[in-house]
Amino acid sequence: MSKNIISIIGARPNFMKMAPVINSLKSIDVNNIVVHTGQHYDQKMSKDILNELGFQEPKYFLGAGGGTQVNQIYKIMKRFEKICLKEKPVLVIVAGDVNSTLACALVAVKMDIKIAHVEAGLRSGDLEMPEEINRILTDRVSELLFTTEKNAEKNLLKEGISQEKIHFVGNCMIDSVNKFISKATDLEFWKNLGFGREEYLLATIHRPSNVDSKIDLSMVVKTLNEISNKLPIIFPIHPRTRKKIDEFSLKLNKSIMLLEPLSYIPFLSLMSESKIILTDSGGIQEEATFLGVPCITMRENTERPITTEIGTNILAGTKYENIILIFDKIVKKKNFKYKIPPLWDGFAGERIKDIIKNVI
Ligand code: UD1
Repeated sequence: MSKNIISIIGARPNFMKMAPVINSLKSIDVNNIVVHTGQHYDQKMSKDILNELGFQEPKYFLGAGGGTQVNQIYKIMKRFEKICLKEKPVLVIVAGDVNSTLACALVAVKMDIKIAHVEAGLRSGDLEMPEEINRILTDRVSELLFTTEKNAEKNLLKEGISQEKIHFVGNCMIDSVNKFISKATDLEFWKNLGFGREEYLLATIHRPSNVDSKIDLSMVVKTLNEISNKLPIIFPIHPRTRKKIDEFSLKLNKSIMLLEPLSYIPFLSLMSESKIILTDSGGIQEEATFLGVPCITMRENTERPITTEIGTNILAGTKYENIILIFDKIVKKKNFKYKIPPLWDGFAGERIKDIIKNVI
C-alpha cells in the first residue's frame, strides 16, 4: 500500500510554493493528502488562487481563520493532530514562514513524524517579525531542509543544522511564475485597468511593522501619495491594511487605484509590466527579480538577500525621503542590470520530489 504524506497549505504565499511540489509528487508512488489550514479564507485570498493554480480540492480544511497568532496556531495544532492520528503520514511537508507552517511542524515533531521544509534557512535577523520565529523553529525540527539560495544554507549551518539535511533545490515560487507567466502576460490585465505597459507602479503593503501603528501607516500613506503625484499607483490591498487605513482615517490620493486582493494570474500580469514594484512582501521581492522589474522593498531587512545582491531588489527602509530618492533614481535609469539566481529555473518541485522519493 502507498505511504501517506501530508502537504500543508493555508496562507496565500504558500499556495504558489506548494503547487509545484504537490504536482511533482503525483509521479511517485505515495498518497499525498492536501490539508488547508484555513489561515486565509476570503475567496480572493484563497479559493480563486487555488483554482488558478489547478489545485485538487484539499482533503481537509481546518478553518483556522484569523484572530491572535496564538489562537490561530492553537486551533491549527488541535485540528491537525486529529488528522495525523487518522492518516498516519510518514512525512509532513510545510512551506515558507507563516503561522500555519509552524503550527503543523510542531504537531508533526511531537508525533514523531518527519518534516520537510520548503524554503528553509531564510533569515531576516529580526525576531520581531512573526515570520522569523516561524522560520527558525520550523527549520530546527525539520528533517529535510529545501533551500532557495546559498545564503540560506550558510544560515542553517551557522545554527548547527547538519549538512546532510540541507538540499539546495531552487525556488518553488519561481516554478509557479515560470509555469504561469505566459498566461499572465497574455491576460494584459493592466489594460483592463486603463494602463499601458510600465505606466504604473504596483504596490503591496501589509506587514504589521508597516500597518499596525498609526505612525508607521501614515508614513506609508505619505510615501504612496507623494509617488502617485509622479506615477499612478495600483494598490491591491490586503484586508489587514484596509482595516487599519479605515481605523486611522487616513486618506489616499485619487491617483492611487485601490483594488481588492487579486488572484494569482492577474497579479502576475500586473507585476510583469509595472514600471516599479513597491512592497514589504517576501515573495514579491523574488518574483520581481525573476521578472526583471525594479523592486523597492519598504523594510529595514530582507530574509532574501540574493534579490539585492544580484537581483532587482533595493532595500529602502521605511523612511519617506529615502524611498522617494530611490524611486526618482530608478525612474531616471535606462537599464536595470540583474541576474536570475541559480536554480530559479522552474524545476525546484521536481528536485524536491526526487529527494523525497529516496527518503520515504
Ligand atoms: C500572513 C503571513 C505573512 C504573509 C501574509 C500574506 C503569518 C505570521 N503571516 O499574514 O507572512 O506575508 O499572510 O498575505 O502567518 N484576513 C482576512 N481574510 C483572509 C485572510 C486574513 O480578512 O482571507 C484578515 C485576518 O482575519 C486578520 C488579518 O487579515 O485580521 C491578518 O491575517 P493573518 O493570517 O493573521 O496574517 P497576514 O497579515 O495575512
